[in-house]
Amino acid sequence: MTTGILLLLLSFFLHFPNSHQAAATEADALLQWKSTLINPAALSSWSPANSSSICRWRGVSCNSAGELTALSLPDSGLNGTLDDLNFAALPSLAQLNLNSNLLSGSIPAGISALSNLTSLDLSGNSFVSISPAIGNLSELLDLSLYNNNLAGSIPYQLSHLPKVRHVDLGSNYFNNPDYARFQAMPSLLNLSLGLNYLDQGFPGFILNCTNLIYLDLSQNNFSGPIPDSIGTKLVNLQHLILTMNSFQGKIPVSLANLAGLRELRLGSNFLTGEYRRSSAAYQISRSSSSTTIPSAARSLHLSAGLESSSTLP
Ligand SMILES: *[C@@H]1O[C@H](CO)[C@@H](O)[C@H](O)[C@H]1NC(C)=O
Ligand SMILES: *[C@@H]1O[C@H](CO)[C@@H](O)[C@H](O)[C@H]1NC(C)=O
Ligand SMILES: *[C@@H]1O[C@H](CO)[C@@H](O)[C@H](O)[C@H]1NC(C)=O
Ligand SMILES: *[C@@H]1O[C@H](CO)[C@@H](O)[C@H](O)[C@H]1NC(C)=O
Ligand SMILES: *[C@@H]1O[C@H](CO)[C@@H](O)[C@H](O)[C@H]1NC(C)=O
Ligand SMILES: *[C@@H]1O[C@H](CO)[C@@H](O)[C@H](O)[C@H]1NC(C)=O
Ligand SMILES: *[C@@H]1O[C@H](CO)[C@@H](O)[C@H](O)[C@H]1NC(C)=O
Repeated sequence: MTTGILLLLLSFFLHFPNSHQAAATEADALLQWKSTLINPAALSSWSPANSSSICRWRGVSCNSAGELTALSLPDSGLNGTLDDLNFAALPSLAQLNLNSNLLSGSIPAGISALSNLTSLDLSGNSFVSISPAIGNLSELLDLSLYNNNLAGSIPYQLSHLPKVRHVDLGSNYFNNPDYARFQAMPSLLNLSLGLNYLDQGFPGFILNCTNLIYLDLSQNNFSGPIPDSIGTKLVNLQHLILTMNSFQGKIPVSLANLAGLRELRLGSNFLTGEYRRSSAAYQISRSSSSTTIPSAARSLHLSAGLESSSTLP
């Protein structure tokens, strides 16, 4: 091991005279993490013996200085945790994609050391918890944690991510956070909280995320009304997916203001009324889950089947 790391150091001296120190530390961090994984067959190229450059290791991308900028190992059978990955040794990492592996445990606080991280995709694993320190990833643009076992309340610190534009927390076991501690997220374009255990009223902070294009709150148990102001505050909405909750009251008239709305799914709630757009009115069918739309609005996919709980006439 020691000889291997020496060799590695030597090789970085030869190849990257200006960054050998950082590169050696990166290699060390990756090898240390690999040593904690169970049967990491996909990482056979991660070896001190194959040390001409970590930049040729599977899943690794580097910049011209030989620093690790991306780690992309989706669907690679990685089984273990992130607990022993020394994130502080990877200061240039901008993209981390470990989608669809067998990773479990916590998304650790140490990840906040990735000060240059713009994209984090840990979807399709078995993580059970997430450190609030994730809110310190000041460069983060895209966060995908879809389909894990994340439980507990959604950390409000996520709303402090200053640049984030895509947040997908869908298909987890999150329960209600303290929404009052959430702040407006003006950079946010996509938000999915679908398929979790959220069951209060429509989260107020969402109305202050005024650039949202895509909002999915489906398959929770949100209750109360859909706020009337939704159509005047979230004016860029193109996709609004609220299916399978306990929303009640009238479908907001203000939805008619949303000129860009292309997908509206309100089915399996306790809503009454209808969705109107321009001069045409589209009665929401109680029987079908997907309503045929007149050609004037054929780009709008309206799915409303209000089911038997509907109070529609
Ligand atoms: C070294 O890495 C390269 C590139 O990933 C790979 O093709 C090769 O099989 C590796 N060699 C060993 C001995 O692991
Ligand atoms: C992952 O590792 C754990 C712990 O050793 C083991 O029980 C489990 O079977 C492994 N999962 C797979 C799919 O190999
Ligand atoms: C972080 O990213 C910026 C912009 O891409 C770059 O100039 C800087 O060198 C990076 N920092 C590190 C530590 O790699
Ligand atoms: C995250 O930022 C907060 C506020 O700046 C700070 O108190 C905290 O120590 C940071 N957490 C980590 C893990 O860096
Ligand atoms: C937003 O989500 C939609 C649907 O999942 C996707 O097509 C689009 O690329 C996402 N946009 C961003 C900025 O991530
Ligand atoms: C939304 O923003 C307004 C104006 O900045 C503020 O008064 C209000 O408290 C915010 N609401 C929520 C729920 O964050
Ligand atoms: C969903 O919320 C409604 C209204 O708060 C409540 O009556 C109902 O019991 C909840 N359903 C489930 C499955 O928790």
